[in-house]
Amino acid sequence: MKRIVILISGRGSNMEAIMHAAATECWTSKIAAVISNKPNAGGLTRARAAGIPTVVVDHRDYQHREQFDAALADAIDAHQPDLVVLAGFMRILTEGFVHHFAGRLINIHPSLLPSFTGLDTHRRAIDAGVKFHGATVHFVTAELDHGPIIAQAVVPVHDDDDEETLAARVLEQEHQMYPRAVRDLLEGRLVLTGSRVVRAELA
Ligand code: GRF
Repeated sequence: MKRIVILISGRGSNMEAIMHAAATECWTSKIAAVISNKPNAGGLTRARAAGIPTVVVDHRDYQHREQFDAALADAIDAHQPDLVVLAGFMRILTEGFVHHFAGRLINIHPSLLPSFTGLDTHRRAIDAGVKFHGATVHFVTAELDHGPIIAQAVVPVHDDDDEETLAARVLEQEHQMYPRAVRDLLEGRLVLTGSRVVRAELA
Protein backbone atom coordinates (compact mmCIF):
# COMPACT_ATOMS: atom_id res chain seq x y z
CA MET A 1 0.00 0.00 0.00
CA LYS A 2 1.40 3.38 -1.02
CA ARG A 3 1.61 6.14 1.57
CA ILE A 4 0.68 9.80 1.27
CA VAL A 5 1.71 12.63 3.59
CA ILE A 6 -0.24 15.88 3.23
CA LEU A 7 1.17 19.25 4.34
CA ILE A 8 -1.21 22.08 5.19
CA SER A 9 -1.16 25.55 6.75
CA GLY A 10 -4.85 26.43 6.85
CA ARG A 11 -8.40 25.25 6.31
CA GLY A 12 -7.38 22.14 4.37
CA SER A 13 -10.23 21.90 1.89
CA ASN A 14 -7.97 20.27 -0.71
CA MET A 15 -6.75 17.84 1.94
CA GLU A 16 -10.35 17.02 2.71
CA ALA A 17 -11.12 16.45 -0.98
CA ILE A 18 -8.23 13.97 -1.15
CA MET A 19 -9.36 12.26 2.09
CA HIS A 20 -12.88 12.01 0.70
CA ALA A 21 -11.74 10.56 -2.63
CA ALA A 22 -9.43 8.05 -0.91
CA ALA A 23 -12.31 6.84 1.26
CA THR A 24 -15.13 6.79 -1.28
CA GLU A 25 -13.09 5.46 -4.21
CA CYS A 26 -11.45 2.81 -1.99
CA TRP A 27 -7.89 3.82 -2.92
CA THR A 28 -5.18 1.27 -2.39
CA SER A 29 -3.02 4.15 -1.09
CA LYS A 30 -3.48 5.60 2.36
CA ILE A 31 -3.00 9.01 3.96
CA ALA A 32 -0.32 8.21 6.52
CA ALA A 33 -0.25 11.64 8.15
CA VAL A 34 -1.23 15.29 7.88
CA ILE A 35 1.46 17.75 8.93
CA SER A 36 0.96 21.46 9.58
CA ASN A 37 3.36 24.30 10.30
CA LYS A 38 0.52 26.07 12.11
CA PRO A 39 -0.86 24.55 15.34
CA ASN A 40 -4.28 26.14 14.78
CA ALA A 41 -4.75 25.13 11.13
CA GLY A 42 -8.41 24.26 10.65
CA GLY A 43 -7.50 21.23 8.55
CA LEU A 44 -5.88 19.53 11.56
CA THR A 45 -9.26 19.21 13.25
CA ARG A 46 -10.75 17.73 10.09
CA ALA A 47 -7.91 15.22 9.75
CA ARG A 48 -8.12 14.17 13.40
CA ALA A 49 -11.88 13.69 13.07
CA ALA A 50 -11.16 11.30 10.21
CA GLY A 51 -8.68 9.36 12.36
CA ILE A 52 -5.60 10.43 10.42
CA PRO A 53 -2.45 11.00 12.50
CA THR A 54 -1.51 14.68 12.65
CA VAL A 55 1.80 16.36 13.42
CA VAL A 56 2.65 20.02 14.00
CA VAL A 57 6.09 21.34 13.12
CA ASP A 58 5.76 25.00 14.05
CA HIS A 59 8.08 27.16 11.94
CA ARG A 60 8.20 29.73 14.77
CA ASP A 61 10.17 27.24 16.88
CA TYR A 62 13.10 27.44 14.46
CA GLN A 63 15.43 30.35 13.96
CA HIS A 64 16.56 29.42 10.46
CA ARG A 65 14.65 28.14 7.47
CA GLU A 66 17.16 25.26 7.10
CA GLN A 67 16.47 24.09 10.66
CA PHE A 68 12.72 24.15 10.13
CA ASP A 69 13.00 22.30 6.84
CA ALA A 70 15.24 19.64 8.43
CA ALA A 71 12.72 19.07 11.24
CA LEU A 72 9.88 19.00 8.72
CA ALA A 73 11.74 16.49 6.53
CA ASP A 74 12.31 14.25 9.58
CA ALA A 75 8.62 14.41 10.50
CA ILE A 76 7.66 13.50 6.92
CA ASP A 77 10.27 10.73 6.60
CA ALA A 78 8.95 9.13 9.80
CA HIS A 79 5.84 8.23 7.78
CA GLN A 80 7.79 6.85 4.79
CA PRO A 81 5.69 8.53 2.09
CA ASP A 82 5.61 7.61 -1.58
CA LEU A 83 4.07 11.03 -2.26
CA VAL A 84 4.23 14.30 -0.31
CA VAL A 85 1.26 16.52 -1.14
CA LEU A 86 1.38 20.26 -0.43
CA ALA A 87 -2.19 21.47 0.02
CA GLY A 88 -2.22 25.13 0.96
CA PHE A 89 1.16 24.78 2.65
CA MET A 90 2.36 28.37 2.90
CA ARG A 91 6.11 28.07 3.41
CA ILE A 92 8.91 28.56 0.93
CA LEU A 93 11.01 25.40 0.97
CA THR A 94 14.80 25.22 0.82
CA GLU A 95 16.64 23.64 -2.07
CA GLY A 96 17.86 20.85 0.21
CA PHE A 97 14.31 19.95 1.22
CA VAL A 98 13.07 19.97 -2.37
CA HIS A 99 16.04 17.84 -3.45
CA HIS A 100 15.40 15.32 -0.65
CA PHE A 101 11.82 14.74 -1.89
CA ALA A 102 12.53 15.18 -5.61
CA GLY A 103 10.00 13.38 -7.80
CA ARG A 104 7.55 12.74 -4.96
CA LEU A 105 6.71 16.30 -3.86
CA ILE A 106 3.71 17.98 -5.47
CA ASN A 107 1.80 21.24 -5.01
CA ILE A 108 -1.43 22.88 -6.12
CA HIS A 109 -1.22 26.51 -7.19
CA PRO A 110 -4.29 28.68 -7.85
CA SER A 111 -3.42 29.87 -11.36
CA LEU A 112 -2.67 28.52 -14.79
CA LEU A 113 1.11 28.32 -14.44
CA PRO A 114 3.43 29.70 -15.66
CA SER A 115 1.11 32.72 -15.33
CA PHE A 116 0.65 34.31 -11.92
CA THR A 117 3.21 32.61 -9.73
CA GLY A 118 3.26 33.81 -6.11
CA LEU A 119 0.42 35.28 -4.06
CA ASP A 120 -2.91 37.05 -4.77
CA THR A 121 -3.37 35.13 -7.99
CA HIS A 122 -7.13 35.73 -8.33
CA ARG A 123 -6.88 39.50 -7.88
CA ARG A 124 -3.95 39.65 -10.29
CA ALA A 125 -5.84 37.59 -12.89
CA ILE A 126 -8.81 39.98 -12.70
CA ASP A 127 -6.52 43.03 -12.90
CA ALA A 128 -4.76 41.55 -15.94
CA GLY A 129 -8.11 41.12 -17.67
CA VAL A 130 -7.56 37.47 -18.57
CA LYS A 131 -10.66 35.64 -19.78
CA PHE A 132 -9.59 32.26 -18.39
CA HIS A 133 -7.98 31.38 -15.10
CA GLY A 134 -7.58 28.19 -13.11
CA ALA A 135 -5.30 26.02 -11.05
CA THR A 136 -2.25 23.84 -11.60
CA VAL A 137 -0.92 20.71 -9.92
CA HIS A 138 2.83 20.49 -10.39
CA PHE A 139 5.95 18.78 -9.12
CA VAL A 140 7.88 21.03 -6.76
CA THR A 141 11.31 22.20 -7.80
CA ALA A 142 13.63 24.71 -6.17
CA GLU A 143 12.10 27.59 -8.14
CA LEU A 144 8.85 28.79 -6.54
CA ASP A 145 5.67 27.71 -8.40
CA HIS A 146 7.62 26.14 -11.22
CA GLY A 147 8.23 22.48 -11.90
CA PRO A 148 6.69 19.96 -14.29
CA ILE A 149 2.95 20.43 -14.71
CA ILE A 150 0.85 17.40 -13.76
CA ALA A 151 -2.67 18.72 -14.33
CA GLN A 152 -4.51 21.98 -14.96
CA ALA A 153 -8.13 23.06 -14.60
CA VAL A 154 -9.49 26.05 -16.48
CA VAL A 155 -12.39 28.30 -15.49
CA PRO A 156 -13.85 31.36 -17.26
CA VAL A 157 -13.40 34.81 -15.72
CA HIS A 158 -16.74 36.62 -15.75
CA ASP A 159 -17.01 40.39 -16.21
CA ASP A 160 -18.63 40.80 -12.80
CA ASP A 161 -16.21 38.54 -10.93
CA ASP A 162 -14.44 39.75 -7.84
CA GLU A 163 -11.60 37.97 -6.04
CA GLU A 164 -14.03 35.89 -3.96
CA THR A 165 -16.29 34.67 -6.74
CA LEU A 166 -13.33 33.77 -8.92
CA ALA A 167 -11.52 32.04 -6.06
CA ALA A 168 -14.61 29.96 -5.32
CA ARG A 169 -14.94 28.87 -8.97
CA VAL A 170 -11.27 27.86 -9.06
CA LEU A 171 -11.41 26.07 -5.71
CA GLU A 172 -14.28 23.89 -6.87
CA GLN A 173 -12.07 22.71 -9.72
CA GLU A 174 -9.10 22.21 -7.40
CA HIS A 175 -11.18 19.78 -5.35
CA GLN A 176 -11.90 17.72 -8.47
CA MET A 177 -8.43 17.88 -9.96
CA TYR A 178 -6.10 17.35 -6.99
CA PRO A 179 -7.43 13.96 -5.82
CA ARG A 180 -7.43 12.72 -9.42
CA ALA A 181 -3.83 13.83 -9.95
CA VAL A 182 -2.70 12.22 -6.69
CA ARG A 183 -4.39 8.96 -7.64
CA ASP A 184 -3.00 8.98 -11.19
CA LEU A 185 0.53 9.48 -9.89
CA LEU A 186 0.28 6.81 -7.20
CA GLU A 187 -1.22 4.30 -9.58
CA GLY A 188 1.51 5.03 -12.13
CA ARG A 189 -0.87 6.35 -14.77
CA LEU A 190 1.12 9.59 -15.02
CA VAL A 191 4.90 9.66 -15.13
CA LEU A 192 7.56 12.34 -15.13
CA THR A 193 9.80 12.28 -18.19
CA GLY A 194 12.32 15.11 -18.21
CA SER A 195 10.40 18.36 -17.80
CA ARG A 196 7.00 16.91 -18.76
CA VAL A 197 4.43 14.70 -17.11
CA VAL A 198 2.74 12.35 -19.53
CA ARG A 199 0.42 9.37 -19.50
CA ALA A 200 2.41 6.23 -18.71
CA GLU A 201 1.55 4.47 -21.96
CA LEU A 202 3.14 7.34 -23.90
CA ALA A 203 6.32 7.58 -21.81
C1 GRF B 1 -5.79 26.69 -2.53
O1 GRF B 1 -6.36 27.71 -3.28
C2 GRF B 1 -4.53 26.21 -3.17
O2 GRF B 1 -4.52 26.31 -4.55
C3 GRF B 1 -3.49 27.14 -2.59
O3 GRF B 1 -3.92 27.42 -1.29
C4 GRF B 1 -5.31 27.19 -1.16
C5 GRF B 1 -5.47 26.17 -0.10
O4 GRF B 1 -6.79 25.97 0.28
N1 GRF B 1 -2.18 26.55 -2.69
P1 GRF B 1 -7.15 24.78 1.26
O5 GRF B 1 -6.34 24.95 2.53
O6 GRF B 1 -6.85 23.48 0.57
O7 GRF B 1 -8.62 24.94 1.55
